Amino acid sequence: MIAKDVGAKIFATVSSEEKRNFLITTYGIPPEQIFSSRDTSFYDGVMKTTQGKGVDIVLNSLAGPLLQAGLDCLAPFGRFIELGKRDSQLGHTLNMSQFTNVASYISIDIVQLAIKKSRVFQDSLCEVMKLLNRIQYDIPILSFGISELSKAFRKLQGGTHIGKIVVNAKEGDNIKAITALKPIRLTANGAYLIVGGLKGIGLEMARWMARQGAKTLILISRSAETDENHESIIAEFAGYGVQAILRSCDVTDKSNLENIVQDYAANTPIRGVIQSAVVLQDSIFENMSLEQWNKVIGPKVKGTKNLHEIFQNNLDFFIILSSATAVLGNSGQTNYTTAGVYQDALARYRVQNGLPAVSMNLGVVSGVGIAARSTADIEGRLNSIGYRIQDPSELFKMLETAIRNPYLGQLITGVKPWAEPGDISWRREPRFASLWQAGGSDEDVKKASKQLSFKAQLLESTKEEGHELLVEALVMWMANIFGLSSSEINKELPLTAFGVDSLVAGELRNWLVKNVTTGITIFDIVQSQSTGELATRIQEKFAK
Ligand SMILES: NC(=O)c1ccc[n+]([C@@H]2O[C@H](COP(=O)([O-])OP(=O)(O)OC[C@H]3O[C@@H](n4cnc5c(N)ncnc54)[C@H](OP(=O)(O)O)[C@@H]3O)[C@@H](O)[C@H]2O)c1
Repeated sequence: MIAKDVGAKIFATVSSEEKRNFLITTYGIPPEQIFSSRDTSFYDGVMKTTQGKGVDIVLNSLAGPLLQAGLDCLAPFGRFIELGKRDSQLGHTLNMSQFTNVASYISIDIVQLAIKKSRVFQDSLCEVMKLLNRIQYDIPILSFGISELSKAFRKLQGGTHIGKIVVNAKEGDNIKAITALKPIRLTANGAYLIVGGLKGIGLEMARWMARQGAKTLILISRSAETDENHESIIAEFAGYGVQAILRSCDVTDKSNLENIVQDYAANTPIRGVIQSAVVLQDSIFENMSLEQWNKVIGPKVKGTKNLHEIFQNNLDFFIILSSATAVLGNSGQTNYTTAGVYQDALARYRVQNGLPAVSMNLGVVSGVGIAARSTADIEGRLNSIGYRIQDPSELFKMLETAIRNPYLGQLITGVKPWAEPGDISWRREPRFASLWQAGGSDEDVKKASKQLSFKAQLLESTKEEGHELLVEALVMWMANIFGLSSSEINKELPLTAFGVDSLVAGELRNWLVKNVTTGITIFDIVQSQSTGELATRIQEKFAK
């Protein structure tokens, strides 16, 4: 209609005979200017009818090869206006030769326009309304009641309709609705036990539980009774009208744990348990001592097993705070990861045996907890290998879900969707495929493009600068692989000191082949006495 109004010569593509007839009879478009949108034959048709000149404007909603054929129909200085999204979302490429004709490619997305340039959007709508008031138009309208909403969408999806689909709401129409869940209410007639509840996430969860109506909270940790915040925690909860009972207990000590539980269970039955105890002792597996292994395994494996054995009956929920590393792995944390795998398996075991259990695999939590307190950049490191930073409010929602669904077994969170797998191995696993976002863009894409330009940076740099760049890149690579922060990689030591064996050296070689040079061997990597020496060897090979 608009094209007709401005006096344009119109060429159209249609998908059916019915639509073709509609254009001829309603808009008077000559039959020889109407082509099929089902294949690229419209290109020949348009070129023939315009004596090889092409058209000045293409308004496109076709995808794939049909989009390219539309672009090829442009006359010099023509404009291609893209209304579709499929190709750009899938990151498809275009044959650029058309642009030697000084073509313009303009993509339209009114949703983005409305969100990001609301003023322009508003002005555009006003213009459109003015046009509609002026132009004589005749658009068929297919109308659906709001109770038939899904039917309307199905019709739209089928692409067989002509004109507009309108949804009307009339009195008496039925609509499907999701009823809001009632806010959760914890019982005042029971107690809740939080192991590791004096610190970090455990303490935050205790506060949340107080807000949901809990009146008795038993918070235990090894040093609860001597903790410097002992008094202030009791006073804080008293202020909420909650009795907080703080008891020192190592969760690996079953008899002590049983005594505490029996002390309270007699008067106030324990209705829910949260296991939040953790100790970290990160190290590359090759360098990990038995002591480091046991310190981490103890509270999570023995401690969780003790809780499982003690709490066999009458619980509303049994929640274990596990980690996303138990699902994705993290090379500097074999002990922690193993402990998390045990916790996840135990939760499933309980559920199979008719007992409540949810193991929550968390990513990296900001603001509170062990990662937030750490001086090493745990957040930055895990973020760079695809973990998602979660704030406590998200954890409360998960906790609520786990309490509402006490037999869920496992709740995995804390991983980021991505657009490019980059060097992150778990992203290549089919079980995470649904997190891949076609056409999305995240920092990993930026990282990938940075990697692409790494070679260019080396070429442009002086020998000294290049050496520094390489050392920095090698340190980053190792830090990522071994789950360490870059400050933990001593550049003066051979790479083997950090656990680079022939297998890991093979991976590093692949990275170097992709990003720097093909010349480097596994032997070069394992023989180099420092990161600097390896950088020199790479530079020598790169120069050839
Ligand atoms: N923070 C994160 O980013 C993150 C990410 C993923 C998963 N998680 C999981 O979330 C949970 C809580 O982590 P968080 O960051 O809150 O840790 P946190 O702040 O270090 O708190 C851990 C608590 O566990 C207690 N604890 C350690 N060993 C114990 C034992 N043997 N017996 C009894 N209590 C013990 C500690 O107190 P004492 O030293 O006094 O015993 C402390 O109160 C952990 O299960 C962790 O794996 C955390």
